[in-house]
Amino acid sequence: MQVIRTIKELRAWRAQRPSVALVPTMGNLHEGHLALVAEARHQAASVVVSIFVNRLQFGQGEDFGAYPRTFDADCAKLEAAGVDVLFFPDEAELYPRVRQDYNVEPPHIQNELCGAFRPGHFRGVATVVSKLLNIVQPDVACFGKKDYQQLHVIQRMVEDLNIPVRIVPVDTGRAGDGLALSSRNGYLDAGERQEAPRLYRNLERIRDALQGGDSNYAALETMACEDLTNAGWVVDYIEVRQADTLEIAHAGERRLVVLAAARLGRTRLIDNVEVTR
Ligand code: PAJ
Repeated sequence: MQVIRTIKELRAWRAQRPSVALVPTMGNLHEGHLALVAEARHQAASVVVSIFVNRLQFGQGEDFGAYPRTFDADCAKLEAAGVDVLFFPDEAELYPRVRQDYNVEPPHIQNELCGAFRPGHFRGVATVVSKLLNIVQPDVACFGKKDYQQLHVIQRMVEDLNIPVRIVPVDTGRAGDGLALSSRNGYLDAGERQEAPRLYRNLERIRDALQGGDSNYAALETMACEDLTNAGWVVDYIEVRQADTLEIAHAGERRLVVLAAARLGRTRLIDNVEVTR
């Protein structure tokens, strides 16, 4: 595996390759990321993984400084997974003017769900992903459904701005007890780690009710919220939405997604389940 740190070298490498799949990450890689890599290998002859902890998408008081940076361990995992290039730019390479003047501004969805609790987050994500797509110019880019709203924002961005890339969604990788794999799980202490699967259990319960024909979304959301709150969580939101648009769901809707974000101690966890009925 080649480690490339500059845009110039990355472009020179790319120009020699017939088909490329990109997996953008912030590092501290786990099996969820590696499932994206495996999918990327099916999609194109060469695979680029990028690792860049993108300051733009972190808010004031969020964990930008504390975000786990584990370069050596990440390299070993990517090498073993058969990745061709690790693109590992420093901040000055991606943001030479520190504050760039042009950014990608997502529509109103950027202020809903996670966006309501993380102002500017999706603007930061859309901006860095568009930069990475312009730098690597991949045929395909893989994103996890774990970050469902992020995937939605990127799919729409690519459509609306005619960015010539195919976005491939990948299912959420989970631990044996259901907890969605996440770099932030490392912040959980032993007791919190045991408690953490409650989030997914509540999403499953809502999914089962929806599949059984229940359309009283508000009641289902409230029940899950109460269960988590009683167990000591601070719930940011639990919402049933339309799966394809992320708009508010109406009764009888066939394709739904249940999205949640909640804090356990100092750790903010997110998860979601799709429902077709
Ligand atoms: P990061 O959190 O490192 O995630 C990188 C990619 O891995 C994203 O597409 C995310 O959805 C996916 N992923 C994370 N955990 C997963 C899991 N358990 N199962 C499946 N996929 C999973 O998301 C980001 O970085 C950043 O916002 C980024 C897109 C790189 C822009 O900075």
